[in-house]
Amino acid sequence: MTKKILVAYYSHSGNTRTIADLIQKITNSDLLEIVPKQPYPENYNKCVEQAKHEINSGYKPELKNNVPNLETYDIVFVGSPNWWSTIAPPVTTFLSNCNLTGKTVIPFCTHGGGRWGHSVDDLKKLCPNADVLEGLAINGNTAERSKDDINKWLQKIRITKPQTSMKTLQIIIVLAGIFAVMLSGNLNAQEIKKMNEIKETKTIKETNSKKVTAGRDQLGSLAPKFAELNDDVLFGQVWSREEELPARDRSLVTIVSLIAGGNFEQLKFHLQKGKDNGLSKQEITEIITQQAFYSGWPKAWSAFNIVKEVYGETDTAKHTILKKSAIFPLGGPVNPQWFIGEARLKMISTENSLNTKVANVTFAPGARNHWHSHKVGQILLVTDGEGWYQEWGKPAQKLKKGSVVNISANVKHWHGATKDSWFVHLAINSGETEWFDPVTDKEYNALLEQLK
Ligand SMILES: Cc1cc2nc3c(=O)[nH]c(=O)nc-3n(C[C@H](O)[C@H](O)[C@H](O)COP(=O)(O)O)c2cc1C
Repeated sequence: MTKKILVAYYSHSGNTRTIADLIQKITNSDLLEIVPKQPYPENYNKCVEQAKHEINSGYKPELKNNVPNLETYDIVFVGSPNWWSTIAPPVTTFLSNCNLTGKTVIPFCTHGGGRWGHSVDDLKKLCPNADVLEGLAINGNTAERSKDDINKWLQKIRITKPQTSMKTLQIIIVLAGIFAVMLSGNLNAQEIKKMNEIKETKTIKETNSKKVTAGRDQLGSLAPKFAELNDDVLFGQVWSREEELPARDRSLVTIVSLIAGGNFEQLKFHLQKGKDNGLSKQEITEIITQQAFYSGWPKAWSAFNIVKEVYGETDTAKHTILKKSAIFPLGGPVNPQWFIGEARLKMISTENSLNTKVANVTFAPGARNHWHSHKVGQILLVTDGEGWYQEWGKPAQKLKKGSVVNISANVKHWHGATKDSWFVHLAINSGETEWFDPVTDKEYNALLEQLK
C-alpha cells in the first residue's frame, strides 16, 4: 500500500517553500503551508528581533490554518527556516497542536550557514512519540539548485526509489511541443488526444496545492473539453513544471504574451499570479516599458492601468528594497548570528570542482558582519555603494565601486556598508570562516571621526 504523505512547512522569505515544493512534487504528496495569523515583519531587522524575543520567551504564535486532520497521513515532512539556531515559532505551534504519535516525521530546514543548530532536538521534543527520520538541511542560498540533493536524500531514507530519467525527458519534449502548439492557437483533434494520453501517464506529477478551477468554473458547461485542458493540462501539468522553468519566469512569458496579443481580459489574473510568483512592480514596469517599443504604445498604456490595479502605487515586493544588487541577484537573508543590520547573500558559483565560492553580498546602510577570519583568505570585489573594510589593529579603509580587497589567511577583519550607503561586493573564498565578536556601534560610529 502506498503511504500518504504531507509536506508541512513555514517560510518567511521563500527558501523553505522552494524545498517544500520540490519535495511535494517528487513525492506526489499534499502540501500545507503553516501560516501565522500575524505575519512576521517584512523588514529583516524587525523580523530578526521579533523572532529572537519569541524564541527566548517560548512564545507560540497563533496560526491562520486549523490543525489538519493527520489521521490519513503516514509520513509528515516538517520544514522550517533555521531561526536563531532552532525551528521558527510557527512550526513550534504547528508541532504542539498536532498529534504525530505513531507517524513518521521527516524534518527539513533552510539556513544561512548555521545548518540545523539545535532544530532537530527541539523538533523531537515536540513530537516525542513519532519516528523521526534523518532530515535535510539546505543553505537557503542554494535552495533553487537543491533538487539533486533532495532526490539523493529521499532515496537514502527510502521515501523514493531511483528513477529512470529518459522517460521523463521524452515527456518534457512532447509537452514543450504541445505547449508551443497551444500558444500558437492551432490545436487539432490529434494533438488534444495526445495531451490526454500524456495526462494519464503517471510520470509527471501535478501540484495538488495550486489546483486551478477557473476553466471548469467559467466554461465547464459550455466547453467542458476546453475547461479540462485549461485546468488540468495548462495550469495543471504545464504550469506546475517549476523545476524546468520557475513559476516566476512562466508568469513573465505569459504576461508579455498577453500584452503583445492585446488580451487584457486575462492580464489582471496573470499580473496577480506574477506578483504571487515574485515579480516585483519595478520588474513589471520595466518589462512593459521595453515591450511598448515592440508591441505598441497603446497596449503598454492599457497594461500599465491594470498594473496599477494589481500592484498599487507603492512597491511592496520584498526583494526590491535592496535595489543595489543590480548586477547579480540579491539572494536571501544572511545568518543574523554573524551580522548586524540587514544583509543579503546570493551564491553565484555553482562549480564545485573549483573548491572556490563566489557570493554576491548586499549590505543595507549601517549593516556589517562580525569580526571574522578565513582559513584560506578571501577576495572582495566591490560592485556598488560605499563601505568599510578593517583589519584587526589597523585603521578602517573606505571602499567604493571598483575597490578590490585581498585578505590573507587567518587575518581577523570585518566589512560592511557605511552609515548612509548601500554596499555590494562579490566575496570569493574557499575554506572555513571563524567568527568572533560583533563590531559594536561605538567602534562603527567612530569610523567617521577617523576620516576627519
Ligand atoms: C529571524 C531570522 C533568524 C535567522 N537565524 C538564523 C540562524 O540562527 N542560523 C542560520 O544559519 N540562519 C539564520 N537565518 C537565515 C535563514 O535561516 C535562511 O535565510 C533561511 O533560508 C530562510 O528561509 P525562508 O526563506 O524559508 O524564510 C535567520 C533568518 C531570520 C529571518
